[in-house]
Amino acid sequence: MALRQILEFPDLRLRKVAKPVADVDDTIRRLIDDMFETMYEAQGIGLAATQIDVHLRVVVIDLQNEINEPLIMINPEFEVLTQEIDEMQEGCLSVPGIYEVVKRPEHIRVRALNRVGNTFELEAYGLLAVCIQHECDHLNGKLFVDHLSNLKRSRIRSKLTKQKRAEAAI
Ligand code: NI
Repeated sequence: MALRQILEFPDLRLRKVAKPVADVDDTIRRLIDDMFETMYEAQGIGLAATQIDVHLRVVVIDLQNEINEPLIMINPEFEVLTQEIDEMQEGCLSVPGIYEVVKRPEHIRVRALNRVGNTFELEAYGLLAVCIQHECDHLNGKLFVDHLSNLKRSRIRSKLTKQKRAEAAI
């Protein structure tokens, strides 16, 4: 296993649309292992392959509670099952230190492939539903800050760009 570097907003590589995985083989399983290791090291609860500059439709999630096991989703697709909207504060390993409230449907059904390439379906509510939608956004080149106003997003962009410059100067 290996730690991978996590891309940070406004890096344009986060905007690439990921391709479906054709074969769930050992290369994909190694990618999944690296993604879990990278996510745990960064203390995140979800990571999309896009965030480590691998543009394949692979997501890992671990809410670190007793209800949900660590989750692997390859080629995930979800449908919304409710008009109820959750307002939850979101953060993202690719947008470090920024937390903002985002509105998303609170009940979805997701279909994906697992670690051995079998299809499974899962109904998700609340935090898990939010997390799955957030990670699926990444696969489509979208970030949670895209759900905010232009003004908020440009403030976040300049804050993170300044931070990067300060780090580079040290
Ligand atoms: Ni994220």
